[in-house]
Amino acid sequence: MSELLLLLLFSSMASSSASSDDDFVYAGCSQPKYDAASPYQSNLDALFASLANSAAFSSYANFTSAAARGTPAAYGLFQCRGDVAVSECAACVHSCLSQLSALCPSAAGASVQLRGCYLRYGNDSFLGKPDTSVLYKKCVSPSAGGGHGDDESVMQLSMRDAALAALQTSRGGSYRVGAAGEVKAVAQCVGDQSANQCDECTAAAVARLREVCGLAGAGDAYLGKCYVSYSSDGVDASHDDHGEFICDEAGKTAAIIIGLIAGIALILLFLSFVRKAGNQGSK
Ligand SMILES: *[C@@H]1O[C@H](CO)[C@@H](O)[C@H](O)[C@H]1NC(C)=O
Ligand SMILES: *[C@@H]1O[C@H](CO)[C@@H](O)[C@H](O)[C@H]1NC(C)=O
Repeated sequence: MSELLLLLLFSSMASSSASSDDDFVYAGCSQPKYDAASPYQSNLDALFASLANSAAFSSYANFTSAAARGTPAAYGLFQCRGDVAVSECAACVHSCLSQLSALCPSAAGASVQLRGCYLRYGNDSFLGKPDTSVLYKKCVSPSAGGGHGDDESVMQLSMRDAALAALQTSRGGSYRVGAAGEVKAVAQCVGDQSANQCDECTAAAVARLREVCGLAGAGDAYLGKCYVSYSSDGVDASHDDHGEFICDEAGKTAAIIIGLIAGIALILLFLSFVRKAGNQGSK
């Protein structure tokens, strides 16, 4: 992930109403680009087709596409959140794939995280490898007036810690939920991780949330191979109006936070739509 240049977009742009599995969380694009005429492109085409197909019946899949000789293989995977129905998983993965060309044009590798699913591809073999680098994190405090008094803050904090701790004791699964009082927590590992790797990644994400979110009523920590998210009654990190976006300090990741870039993303999506429509028209 070290070569990924993070492109962070505000998910709040689309989430004034109920949050949806298609809501955008973040995308990262590698700086190296490939030549559109290269054989790597045909590896990628095959890879994307495999990913799209298997999303119809699975919540996780990985593929390595190496049909074209003399060029790096294309590796890829997707992971839907454990509680997302199969049909919604397929729609979510298709949504990732359709946004890739606009978000990360010709990038040798990229990842897209939507609320309900994650997709990553690249020409380096990242399959099965652990990755606990923090890609994106966010804390959301209760809105003014809904703040907690001191006693309530202590209560809130202990419920939060209990909900997060529950994620670390439910061994085995790649999807975990925890709850304590009004706090709910969710952890999702990418399916290529072993149980131990998933435990370690989850623990790292929990530690990060504890470290950075203080008394915040909701928070998200997205790491390379897992994420942990928690919310309290009335405070949900996916419904964010005054969320704090924290640029990760990890020096190896050149993180660019582009505030309020929603307009640009929409223009790019629009352009790719126009291009696609144009291509269809010319057939
Ligand atoms: C991935 O592709 C980029 C751009 O073509 C290239 O610079 C890089 O060396 C490739 N990495 C591997 C592991 O093949
Ligand atoms: C990749 O998928 C194959 C089956 O398609 C599976 O056997 C293998 O364990 C998977 N690898 C990882 C790292 O998830």
